[in-house]
Amino acid sequence: MEYLLIEKIDGIGVITINRPDVLNAMNAGVVTELSTAVSDFIQDDEVGVIILTGSGEKAFVAGADIKAMQQMDSNDALDFGKAGQEMTLIIENSPKPVIAAVNGFALGGGCEIALACHIRIASENAVFGQPEVLLGIIPGWGGTQRLPKIVGTGIANELIITGNHISADEAHRIGLVNHVVAQDELLDSCKEIGKIILKNGPKAIAISLQCIYESFNKSIQDGLAVEVDAFAKLFSTDEAKEGMTAFVEKRKANFRS
Ligand code: COA
Repeated sequence: MEYLLIEKIDGIGVITINRPDVLNAMNAGVVTELSTAVSDFIQDDEVGVIILTGSGEKAFVAGADIKAMQQMDSNDALDFGKAGQEMTLIIENSPKPVIAAVNGFALGGGCEIALACHIRIASENAVFGQPEVLLGIIPGWGGTQRLPKIVGTGIANELIITGNHISADEAHRIGLVNHVVAQDELLDSCKEIGKIILKNGPKAIAISLQCIYESFNKSIQDGLAVEVDAFAKLFSTDEAKEGMTAFVEKRKANFRS
């Protein structure tokens, strides 16, 4: 990989976007590599949780690469937009939880990548925003769709049409991030959450995420039907048998032996 650093530690796959000279801005090459790296971890039996972060102490991802976009016409932009959206769908539909470790600027496409992750943890210096309107464009990797679902329409409207940056604390206050931690504790905090998740049943985790995802895109009736069907199906898995038997036998469940 030219633009990413990849690591695997104790069941957790860590992907670091590594273009620090341009604050980890995403050109088409980074988009392709990130899609591939997440897909590879989804296939990798040794990995149960994925962490996404940016290299350096300043930026998670400062957006799509504006110098690359400056050269694009509408056809190029359609390809770039679709590739970025596909990348966010791979992240969002991952059966393995993806945690965004937001270590600095998460602007434009960087904020949109974080929005596609299942859990967002920010360092105190993190800054969020969708500043595309300042460039005369709009968010193209799902920002107009996911941001209102996460923070509500009124706040999403304001963030997207002002292009204002917000601090990590403000992002926490509006529910955009789950926790804010000191920068030097960020990766460890994400790994701690990862370790807790790794103790739980992988099928139950994947199906929970799928059911929650359905609630984004379906009516409550359709979503509830998906949920009850998945709930019932899990009762015929070894995982559910082990989980409930372990509780009754007063021992810890062993899901990943
Ligand atoms: N695309 C391409 N290059 C970018 C970039 C982006 N999205 N964001 C930052 N860079 C580059 C800068 O051009 C600069 O490169 P240079 O040293 O060759 O001039 C380098 O990264 C450092 O950025 P700089 O602007 O000098 O840092 P700063 O601390 O003064 O400001 C930001 C940081 C994030 C506020 C500022 O870089 C910025 O506004 N970036 C664009 C954010 C954006 O609009 N993102 C959405 C794009 S759709």
